[in-house]
Amino acid sequence: MNEDKAARFAAALAGLPRLPLASVRPTPLEPMPRLSAQMGGPPLYIKRDDLTGMAFGGNKTRMLEFSLADALAKGADTIVCGSAVQSNYCRQMAAACARLGLDLHLLLRPIRPIDRVECQGNHLLQRLFGAQVTVLPDSDMDAQQEALTARAAELTAQGRRVYRPRQDDTLDLDAIAYAEVGIELARQCRDLGLQPRRVYVSALDTTQAGLVLGLRWIDSPIAVRGICPFRDWPRRFDDMVRVANQGAVRLGLDIAFTAADFDNDDSYVGDAYGLPTAAGLAAVRAVARTEGILIDPVYTGKTIAALWDDVRRGQLPADEPVVFLHTGGAPALFGYAAELLSE
Ligand SMILES: Cc1ncc(COP(=O)(O)O)c(C=O)c1O
Repeated sequence: MNEDKAARFAAALAGLPRLPLASVRPTPLEPMPRLSAQMGGPPLYIKRDDLTGMAFGGNKTRMLEFSLADALAKGADTIVCGSAVQSNYCRQMAAACARLGLDLHLLLRPIRPIDRVECQGNHLLQRLFGAQVTVLPDSDMDAQQEALTARAAELTAQGRRVYRPRQDDTLDLDAIAYAEVGIELARQCRDLGLQPRRVYVSALDTTQAGLVLGLRWIDSPIAVRGICPFRDWPRRFDDMVRVANQGAVRLGLDIAFTAADFDNDDSYVGDAYGLPTAAGLAAVRAVARTEGILIDPVYTGKTIAALWDDVRRGQLPADEPVVFLHTGGAPALFGYAAELLSE
């Protein structure tokens, strides 16, 4: 890795408003020898971003350090956002808002029939952290956007200072957090004498945009293999390019990206976002039973399933270490008990 460029990145990052939400940084990089043996594959390592520390951790904790600092800098007292009922983002957002004394309104899309009736996993935790949760009638994303806009307008009319995170002009703040993770990972690999050429990660937009930004900036040979949790989301490549470039501009880094810089595979999604696959559930069980580590059926399980498939197809040299970046999500397990127990 290029230390001068890493130092330039750190200096630029230090100029951004940031809140200390992650209590573990750097997160550990550990071997997974029993999973490697079970797969019959290369030496596997896990980067434990599930251990960032806030409310069961995960990738969003680090992102919220920048986006909620931006919210506070803009004088916000209320956050309005939404995702799926079992959203890890919304769980970590709810914990952060509780800690910062911000009101949070979550408008959530049900994905499975059970999401309308059961309050488990992330949904339970969102409510426990005091978020005002509305479960929308269906999973229509356009309708969700309209409902979010309407709720923000209503609260603004009541005198609340509303901030909506992850808008076009702020999405790169989330990515920047993962540019730092890319550099952190490269440094840990160097310190351990590891020379991986691939990191597997569950990623749709900001996580991969950031990782690629950070790794490319420091001239790291580690390539990011993103495994997409969403089906039919072709605009993700444009999004990642735009967000990575926007992050580079914000940090004053002279680097630019095109779609060719992003390897993001949506062939492990199965029927749809949020619906488990047999391979993903098998991966969740295998990681639990070989390493005592919890992954999840929506994101990281499908990522390990992809890694395993690459091993089976002979895509990974036996002597080259491979890193799995664990982005968290284990609380969702409790919302998928029936599927997990249906072996
Ligand atoms: C556990 C987990 N992994 C990965 C992702 C993908 O993150 P991004 O949208 O930044 O690509 C998410 C998003 O919510 C997630 O919860």
